[in-house]
Amino acid sequence: MNEKEIMDIETRYLANVFSKKPVVLTRGKGALVWDINGKEYIDCSTSYGVALLGHCHPKVVAAIQTQAEQLITCHSTYYNDKRAEFIKKLVAITPKSLDKAFLSNSGAESVECAIKLARKYTGKPEIIALMGAFHGKTMGALSATWDKKYREPFMPLIPEIKHVAPDNPEKIREAITEKTAAVLMEPIRGEGGVRIPPDGYLQAVRQICDEKHILLMLDEVQTSFGRTGKLFGCENWGVIPDVMCLAKPFAGGLPIGITVANENIMSSLKIGEHSTTFSGSPLVCAAGCAAIDALIEEKLADHAVEMGRYFKAGLESLQTEHKIIKEVRGLGLMLGMELRYDVLNVIQKAAQRGVLVLDAGRTVVRLLPPLVINNKQIDRAIAVLDEVIGEEEHERTSCSTVPN
Ligand SMILES: Cc1ncc(COP(=O)(O)O)c(C=O)c1O
Repeated sequence: MNEKEIMDIETRYLANVFSKKPVVLTRGKGALVWDINGKEYIDCSTSYGVALLGHCHPKVVAAIQTQAEQLITCHSTYYNDKRAEFIKKLVAITPKSLDKAFLSNSGAESVECAIKLARKYTGKPEIIALMGAFHGKTMGALSATWDKKYREPFMPLIPEIKHVAPDNPEKIREAITEKTAAVLMEPIRGEGGVRIPPDGYLQAVRQICDEKHILLMLDEVQTSFGRTGKLFGCENWGVIPDVMCLAKPFAGGLPIGITVANENIMSSLKIGEHSTTFSGSPLVCAAGCAAIDALIEEKLADHAVEMGRYFKAGLESLQTEHKIIKEVRGLGLMLGMELRYDVLNVIQKAAQRGVLVLDAGRTVVRLLPPLVINNKQIDRAIAVLDEVIGEEEHERTSCSTVPN
């Protein structure tokens, strides 16, 4: 099939729910992807954070190939060697008290499990989430997601989930009632604009949850697996949640969701109360074992610290040159660059010139490069962003003044 045929078929037969970019990607290696015409791109989007190890990591590829010939599917009602190996590797890296996991297939599913767990464990219905939060789009996760464009068409959502202003722990304290089961939040709001909380916020929320005997559930779907320079985002603040939601990169690119909690909390879910057919499939778990091995053996979280600093410094230097850049923020390789205008043009033009980046809301360019990205690739990405932001600035400022 040629490029046009592929685009036509997807447009004709797939639900029209994705904002499509006019690129047909067919190959990837490390931080690079290639389209059907052989054009190379630096991938700072990594399938929305999935390809955090880089595309087609050799250890993951080999593990998938070997396992595919052994056993692909095995329902969790039976035991399986790869599942056991994966879960052992997982609990060896999760914060100490989080040692019992439920395996599913996506970030939203990991959040669904957390919501059910909170209600079942505490016997209370209410969950406190943050304004600006993103937790996924299934009905339960959507109820905790903030943006009304995602929520409003599907009302009524599940009851007793309320949103409070972020970054001020007192807002959480004020919202807690005798019906509150848990606080659910991202350590860094990703989709909400790469928003890093003020110093002491996460620790204060932990303390409030302890005082009030409610659960702290961290959605680490985007902030874990070395992304922020630590294996889990919460480690940047020395906070351990009661429940943690994981997904995206944990199976090297195959679909996975993980809800992890301490045994006491997880054991409140009884046989049959929660399950999914694909939970912990051998193929996914084999990929997950290889992914965790690569993360640890190649010290990729440390590399994220170094490359994150380098990338952020590059973006900051762009900020000094371009007035339309309002702020650069980020931790490790989770980076955001807020513009004074809509970012869609910049994203489209960057893609045309070989750099894939994401948005996070209307005005933030979000960069989620893989942990294996190198200085040269970052330099190339910065050079392209410099060019397209310069052009955007020229176009905008030649017809009006730059807003504050
Ligand atoms: C923090 C967070 N939670 C949950 C999700 C939902 O994950 P999924 O799209 O795999 O359902 C996402 C997806 O981007 C996310 O960033």
